[in-house]
Amino acid sequence: MKTILLVFGTRPEAIKMCPIVNELKTRKSIKTVVCVTGQHRQMLDQVLKTFKVVPDYDLSVMKEKQTLFDITVNILGRIKVVLEVVKPDVVLVHGDTSTAFVTALACYYLQIPIGHVEAGLRTYNIYSPYPEEFNRQAISIISSYNFVPTQISSDNLLKEGKDPETIYITGNTAIDALNTTIRDDYENEYLDWASDSKLIMITAHRRENLGEPMHHMFRAIRRVMEEHPDIKIIYPIHMNPVVRLEADKELSGCDRIKIIEPLEVLDFHNFLSKSYLILTDSGGIQEEAPSLGKPVLVMRDSTERPEGIAAGIIRLVGTEEETIYQNFSELLNNKAVYEKMSHASNPYGDGTASKKIVSILEEKLK
Ligand code: UD1
Ligand code: UDP
Repeated sequence: MKTILLVFGTRPEAIKMCPIVNELKTRKSIKTVVCVTGQHRQMLDQVLKTFKVVPDYDLSVMKEKQTLFDITVNILGRIKVVLEVVKPDVVLVHGDTSTAFVTALACYYLQIPIGHVEAGLRTYNIYSPYPEEFNRQAISIISSYNFVPTQISSDNLLKEGKDPETIYITGNTAIDALNTTIRDDYENEYLDWASDSKLIMITAHRRENLGEPMHHMFRAIRRVMEEHPDIKIIYPIHMNPVVRLEADKELSGCDRIKIIEPLEVLDFHNFLSKSYLILTDSGGIQEEAPSLGKPVLVMRDSTERPEGIAAGIIRLVGTEEETIYQNFSELLNNKAVYEKMSHASNPYGDGTASKKIVSILEEKLK
């Protein structure tokens, strides 16, 4: 029997890898082993609980205010023994986190084949997003199976000279997860609180946005909120203490903004689906919002996910206060512009990515 080891460590990786874990467990021909690095702790455990995934190994690396050095050194030091004990035929990593990069590096050192889920996303600026653009490019050099979400990501890998035989267009497993969480009859006390207003959802966490860019974002949001008595904002804040400090400085003390703990993914998806508009620097939310037909203002200078922009649902608004303020205001003031942006589109597939990935691996590992 062949063994597949899945390694992940942060919230978004867990949301997009758990559907694969659960699909793999339905196949008798493969032994599935899960190792979490614990790059995130509480935010990872929330997702594991939702998808009922119990890891076989947990490297427990998270430290408060960890640096890229901390994450890299601690994962590299601890993953070796897991790889040597499990002896996997393939290791699956996801996307562009340090967990994914360091695991891929360890696999390369031990000459274990790597399957890269959500491969081929690119901005071609290694400082935006930082360090994710480097991480995913580096993984692509050494991966044997590349599960790309869209034709655009496939084209990126082909341009870089990857062997076409290693590239599989599968859609994004984010949509698989989304299909299991959205409920028509979903209720929540925060949604009751916002029900008399337009609900605006916010998230922000990117490493390159800590400091001045985040001040700009929060100031713009506060200005718009003060000018629009008909909106209420819910901000499930990332656990990074640096983000919390910034948000506290700029956004505390407003009765129409609720800064709350990270939501469980089922709740978060349902909040998104009940929202009017989303402001974020997240990657995953750019994949989920098109399916839900919710306009997104992406507070970043570049995106590796051009599909939502092409579909007209996502706008890249940078991190300057004035530009965020103008774009946010326009979407609240101009109904025609808002309507034009808010239509459902499925650039990331129909929710069968996990099935496709697992079937390909089953066939290849025969
Ligand atoms: C990481 C990923 C980023 C991904 C993001 C998803 C890297 C370098 N970064 O960034 O690509 O977009 O996850 O959210 O791989 N913390 C907790 N509890 C948690 C999670 C985080 O307390 O459950 C705090 C800790 O103080 C930690 C800090 O947040 O040191 C930052 O976490 P870290 O994983 O280093 O960075 P993220 O910004 O979360
Ligand atoms: N998410 C969640 N709870 C929250 C905020 C976000 O479950 O309170 C989910 C969201 O639906 C998406 C993922 O977390 O699937 C995005 O994670 P994040 O923004 O932390 O990372 P990124 O996608 O930018 O790497």
